[in-house]
Amino acid sequence: MELCIIGSGYVGLTTGACFAEVGHKVICVDNDQRKIDALRAGKVPIYEPGLEDLVHRNVSAQRLSFNNSIEYGVDNAKIVFIAVPTPPQPDGSVDLTYIERVAREIAAVLKEYRVVVDKSTVPVKTGEKVADTIKRYNKASADFDVVSNPEFLREGCAVDDLMNPDRIVIGSNSDRATALMKQVYEPFLAPVIVTDINSAELIKHAANSFLALKISYANALSAICEASGADIERVVDGIGSDKRIGRHFLNAGLGYGGSCFPKDLAAFIAIAEDIGVPFNLLKEVQQINTAQRERFVKRVRDALWVLKEKRIAVWGLTFKPDTDDVRSSVAVDLVNDFIREGAEVTVYDPKGMDKAAEFNLVPGAKFADSPLAAAMGAEALILATEWKEFLNVDMEEVCKVMHTPMLFDGRNLFDPQTMRQFGFQYYGIGRKV
Ligand code: UDX
Repeated sequence: MELCIIGSGYVGLTTGACFAEVGHKVICVDNDQRKIDALRAGKVPIYEPGLEDLVHRNVSAQRLSFNNSIEYGVDNAKIVFIAVPTPPQPDGSVDLTYIERVAREIAAVLKEYRVVVDKSTVPVKTGEKVADTIKRYNKASADFDVVSNPEFLREGCAVDDLMNPDRIVIGSNSDRATALMKQVYEPFLAPVIVTDINSAELIKHAANSFLALKISYANALSAICEASGADIERVVDGIGSDKRIGRHFLNAGLGYGGSCFPKDLAAFIAIAEDIGVPFNLLKEVQQINTAQRERFVKRVRDALWVLKEKRIAVWGLTFKPDTDDVRSSVAVDLVNDFIREGAEVTVYDPKGMDKAAEFNLVPGAKFADSPLAAAMGAEALILATEWKEFLNVDMEEVCKVMHTPMLFDGRNLFDPQTMRQFGFQYYGIGRKV
């Protein structure tokens, strides 16, 4: 089927490439001419495992193309997906100006029946507003349906998540649109859940908030483990093996970050407030997340006494492994906490240093070109992001090159006993000191 995706950012581009991979003919539209030029020249602007190959393969097969014109996209596709940013506003609510503008732009060029699908994460009832807007601005009075089709992809495994989805949610109030959407997703062989538009929009915020809640639950438990001498790893294994609970997203650490969870939680809290049903449970989830990092900094401070002038090495800057994304990263916040207290911080990250430098996210920190170089002469080593690469570092060597071998493992990546055998003073999260 001919599909158009408006917005060639993280979600739009990956979704477009995966749709092309299963045989659809996809036009990815973006108003950033430089991005379109780069994509046409074969350059993929984001790091995501498998994406570059997918883009190249489908461009060569003439199933994937890039264009700067919404009119061209709408004219040449049956279904038009909106995948533009929905950034947070200072009060946590969602800025819907890009969505609104795209709705007007679609309306201006809509000549015959199209399904307009909202893929961006939006507050409940946005679909209704998109439909109203298209109706108001479409001079041709063309027929159309609006559908909500949230994405559930995780950075770092977005291609795999898209190609092998747990479920597809189609929020639609029209049988005609639902039938077309089912055709789009048929090749993915995934369970399809059809709902009304409002429910589909809620599913996205509710799912991400629940996952964040699970993480905060594990983090709150980790504090109890530290205070009581229990081990969080054993505790989460014990509760996670109950199928009703599940082991996923119960890893205690420095807290969740990234461009989705913090933003989606704040948005859901604002949405609930707005419709007169405050969701205080989620405020507690946020609070536990912030407290987790603060507790960790306090632990480092307690061990080193004063952080001023201390040489601290930090491994990891990205908000999680296998991505170059450093937005809303707890690791970045942590580095800045140490710098604020006057520590001399040297960081190493396999993929995140370029972006951190480009956006000046850790001003005052030095960048090292290897984990060992970062640890050289350090009085404490902090593991902030659990890249697998760190498991292959010769930790005996690291122990030798450090000034004082103190290891604060913010993601419980290392085995405490082995680290202690190497000579480290090891501190994990929710583990015995
Ligand atoms: C998330 C959702 O998983 C995805 O479905 C949605 O579409 C977008 O938001 P993403 O932000 O890419 O995806 O990352 P995810 O893998 O979910 O991790 C989010 C954060 O939670 C990371 O900072 C990660 O380190 C943290 N996390 C995750 C934990 O601290 N503990 C865990 O057990 C799992």
